[in-house]
Amino acid sequence: MTHAPAPATFEEADAMSWIDIAALDDIPLRGARKLRTAHGCVAVFRTGADTVHALDDRCPHRGGPLSEGIVHGTSVTCPLHNWVFDLNTGAAQGADEGKVATYPCRVEGGRVLIDATRLGAAA
Ligand code: FES
Repeated sequence: MTHAPAPATFEEADAMSWIDIAALDDIPLRGARKLRTAHGCVAVFRTGADTVHALDDRCPHRGGPLSEGIVHGTSVTCPLHNWVFDLNTGAAQGADEGKVATYPCRVEGGRVLIDATRLGAAA
């Protein structure tokens, strides 16, 4: 089951470096797991439909921890002031403006993989 957009080209696919970060079952349904990286924390979300999405764990409004937000459909609501972000694009929804960085991730054989090329060294 692939949950990130497919790479546009073979060159892009070759440039990716997938790392195994967890079992899918290690991420709560409609919840998230925090991944510490060289560039800050990334929230890896699992939706009710078992899709996975990786976004920066920092709300662009005032830095709220999105990994502690409420997952509904393919969106997450920030726990601090209720801004809603699309898990696919990272874009704020409704009247709010802002965007959270997203990272390619997918599920393979029950394991969650994330493209480490944009993360630096994951810890
Ligand atoms: S910090 Fe996320 S909505 Fe304010």
